[in-house]
Amino acid sequence: MAERIIIDTDPGQDDAVAILLALGSPELEVLGITAVAGNVPLALTALNARKVCELAGRPDIKVFAGCDRPLRQPLVTAEHVHGKTGLDGPTLPDPQMPLQPGHAVDFIIDTLRAEPPGTVTLCPLGPLTNIATAFEQAPDIAARVKQIVLMGGAYFEVGNITPAAEFNIYVDPEAAEIVFRAGAPLVVIPLDVTHKALVTKPRNDAFRAIGTPVGTAVAEMTDFFERFDREKYGSDGAPLHDPCVTAWLLKPALFTGRRINVEIEVHSPLTRGMTVADWWGVTDRAPNALFIGDLDADGLFALITERLARL
Ligand code: RIB
Ligand code: CA
Repeated sequence: MAERIIIDTDPGQDDAVAILLALGSPELEVLGITAVAGNVPLALTALNARKVCELAGRPDIKVFAGCDRPLRQPLVTAEHVHGKTGLDGPTLPDPQMPLQPGHAVDFIIDTLRAEPPGTVTLCPLGPLTNIATAFEQAPDIAARVKQIVLMGGAYFEVGNITPAAEFNIYVDPEAAEIVFRAGAPLVVIPLDVTHKALVTKPRNDAFRAIGTPVGTAVAEMTDFFERFDREKYGSDGAPLHDPCVTAWLLKPALFTGRRINVEIEVHSPLTRGMTVADWWGVTDRAPNALFIGDLDADGLFALITERLARL
């Protein structure tokens, strides 16, 4: 039986590749996509999610708009990374498919209540505002979640939006604290891993060599996305963060990690949004997450390329 997932997302070029990887993989059934404000404002993330579904030939996918701002603080966006549209690079037509009526948070709650317990996986790829709001409005659903597999946080790799914090967590630390304390099985894919998932030129060339509209668009997305990160990190390509979530579901053996305690800093102005990961077990705090530390990058890109070619 396919893994049944809800993708919560703020597209974002890397979110787009994560969504495409999911739609190109029969092992996964996408029950719906819930857009959240993050990389760009909600109106654009909700638009971009539909553009990506139509690029994949999947206008049937249900896309919902969710929260347009964090729980407690003003929205911080990342146009400097993703461009003003959030999906700069390819020119993708405005979608014909409509947004689904109703709020994304209600879709998450209703789906988790309607489906048998332990059968739906949540895949947050952006700030955790939608997920946290759903858990706050419907405390019963946390126990019904099969698992949460999210891109967020950092420990040995430190932060990318502040010296201490990774963007998804930093945008809404209160939401992250709610999700990390909810008790649902948690898999955290931090910058420690995604900074090893670099879109080198051969890997980008492999996307382009697929020779389809999807392959070309992804090559153009990662070309655009790369310019900022290559300059910032001096790395041999841009880190492709969010597809690591989808890939973990498809091939967990590509990744290694450790069950540890991870708490979220929400008080200190200096380190707000930091994921405080007890990697060496120096506290008595109970493990609450599988914190991923490493991956087989060649295996990841082979998987992504092979699945994109199916669309
Ligand atoms: O820090 C990387 C994360 O922030 C990714 O999910 C990227 O899409 C942005 O949302
Ligand atoms: Ca994202």
